Amino acid sequence: MTDKELQELLKKMSLKEKVNQMLQVTGGFFDGHQVAMGPMKEKGFSDENVALAGSVIGSMGAEKLKKIQKEYMENHPHKIPLLFMMDVINGFKTIFPIPLAQGATFEPELSERCAAAAAKEASVSGLHVTFAPMVDLVRDARWGRVMESTGEDPYLNCLFSEAMVKGFQGEDLKEPYHVAACVKHFAGYGAPTAGRDYNTVELSKHTLKEFYLPSYKAGIDAGAAMVMTSFNTIEGIPATGNKWLMRDVLRDEMGFDGVLISDWAAIEEIIYHGYCADRKEAAVRAAKAGVDIDMMTGIYSENMCSLVEEGVISESLIDESVYRILELKNKLGLFENPYKDADEEKEKELILCQEHRNLAREAARKSFVLLKNDSVLPLKKWKNTAVIGPYVDNRNLMGAWSFIGETKDTATLREAMTERGFAQEVTFCQGSPILDPGMKLEGFTETQGQEVSQEECEKMLQEAVKAAKDAETVILAVGEDRLQSGEATSNANIQIPAIQMELVRRVSQVNDKVIVVLFSGRPLDIREISEKAQAVLQVWMPGTEGARAIVDVLTGEYNPTGKLPMSFPYCVGQVPVHYNEYSTGRPHVPGKDKDRFRSKYLDIPNAPLYPFGFGLSYTRFAVSPIELSHETMNKNETIQAVVKVKNVGEVKGTETVQLYIHDVAASVVRPVKELKNFCKVTLEPGEEQTVTFMITEKDLQFLTENDRWESEPGEFEVFVGTDSSVVNCAKFVLVK
Ligand code: NOJ
Repeated sequence: MTDKELQELLKKMSLKEKVNQMLQVTGGFFDGHQVAMGPMKEKGFSDENVALAGSVIGSMGAEKLKKIQKEYMENHPHKIPLLFMMDVINGFKTIFPIPLAQGATFEPELSERCAAAAAKEASVSGLHVTFAPMVDLVRDARWGRVMESTGEDPYLNCLFSEAMVKGFQGEDLKEPYHVAACVKHFAGYGAPTAGRDYNTVELSKHTLKEFYLPSYKAGIDAGAAMVMTSFNTIEGIPATGNKWLMRDVLRDEMGFDGVLISDWAAIEEIIYHGYCADRKEAAVRAAKAGVDIDMMTGIYSENMCSLVEEGVISESLIDESVYRILELKNKLGLFENPYKDADEEKEKELILCQEHRNLAREAARKSFVLLKNDSVLPLKKWKNTAVIGPYVDNRNLMGAWSFIGETKDTATLREAMTERGFAQEVTFCQGSPILDPGMKLEGFTETQGQEVSQEECEKMLQEAVKAAKDAETVILAVGEDRLQSGEATSNANIQIPAIQMELVRRVSQVNDKVIVVLFSGRPLDIREISEKAQAVLQVWMPGTEGARAIVDVLTGEYNPTGKLPMSFPYCVGQVPVHYNEYSTGRPHVPGKDKDRFRSKYLDIPNAPLYPFGFGLSYTRFAVSPIELSHETMNKNETIQAVVKVKNVGEVKGTETVQLYIHDVAASVVRPVKELKNFCKVTLEPGEEQTVTFMITEKDLQFLTENDRWESEPGEFEVFVGTDSSVVNCAKFVLVK
């Protein structure tokens, strides 16, 4: 449709039809599973609302969605198609590693490919929009949703945000196999106080703008068609009703002109925040803030017509929102082809195809981070190895948001090892349940937790000890359950379940060659594990092909390259901990850490156990001192920072060389280091390569006291190394 035709369509629509375009309901209403009675009636939907609703959340399947679309359009007065939306986070049916793990690849282009594959599977299944990427900056590992983010660094998050949007959307949404992306959760949702999900967010405007907003902006600049509001408050006002945030910042400053959708029931929740007295007021606040779609409450559909008739809301405000929704439908080509890519044959051909599985395996192995290795990995000899732990036979390797992915399609570690012919040489045993006895967890569609008695646990532990005693090497596959991270899974203690810690203790007492393969959706407190084990491989929630990828890395067929996108704390009391903290007036000085009046802890170090950017390889790399092309630069010049990187180990490997900058004195205090660039180099043993980073004035910009992104003349420190604790430093001056 042309813009003119779209405008004409809008003009023909009644107020009621327009208001219902702004309603999103679950698919169950259309396929007879839910009716607007009972609990759903309480939501405020009538049959008429459903018949006119503009979009659907959470249904999939080509056949089903085509049927829903057909029947809906036959009855719709203007034949306006529905939009089908769903959370396709780290994959549709082929499940890629969780987003935090993807952050560890330091390879945004790989995530672009994963998002494109997910979009392909989702689109043939009839979907038009995914609620991804989540680009919230995260610093607190107690918050279970850190798994959905790519980590603590604004620069890295921007790259991933852009890449994922491009991957989902491609060049043109009308083209086959693409879905619209929805950047979420705007804004600052990743900073809940005390790491408790849905809790208040306290960020200064400066911190919000400088560190938290850029990744949303990157997704918007990449063309994201949608943005989702967040549940939290910003400056004391719930984001979903926050006019300053949504109009001034999102629309005016960031230039977002797509569809703004509320998070699930978030318009209603602004009442519970205590920001609105009733549903009517909530409707006014959200509409005035510019929220176009009300996800799963009847607040808009109940109140908006009367609000317009009473003159509280102008019809032009409604028109603005509805036009944006129609525009999105048009961008997807739905007026010409309401079924878009939905195709039962293509579902069979593309979903879980070998190409997608290969990509999932590539992404998984690139996401693993080798945290410790006392020369026990790679494992050259599998004879006499015991593979122990609740992850030996666990198929739940996909992460909490993968409710479309099926465990039956995921290989277990035992199966992956058996495929490689190791089964004869290896003893397998479970060692412990995954969760402590009595612990039950609820996901979207399943519950976790076995009924295991203390006696049964003891028996499992003893069996594991016996296997470990008899073995030369132990691979201990332990970690969080997949339902221990994700939405509403905050944890005050970020350790693996106690029963598994007991397993680690007992096994390491009888065997001194223990390799821990650690599964988790978040950085954990692994101090004890790391002391007791000779190697630790962090594998996150690695997805459909995760187990095979783990075997690739354990055997050395793939030499690990992953780098932490989020610091692993020394212990939970250090959280939130992130490398890019501000300088204090009593800064960290090596050797003076324990001076009386320093910014420090009495009982633990300031540094995390494993810092951002950290990750080992089976080889070692040496980075030379930095050579700068100039000692000074002006705003139009660039400086080259040059290092030589050498593989000083025995095998071929890849290093991610990282460049950090520190602005020594500025009108607003600056982080001690900020990642500004990185580069991957693959080197044969003994090989050396020169790596040149170009530093431009843009790399020196920050949000100054003038509330503008600009640079300030003065001294800068440049660091180049293999993680954020790098001390390899050179200095230059930016002159006026
Ligand atoms: C609530 C979550 O916060 C959001 O991320 C998700 O997209 C919606 N539910 C829809 O499932």
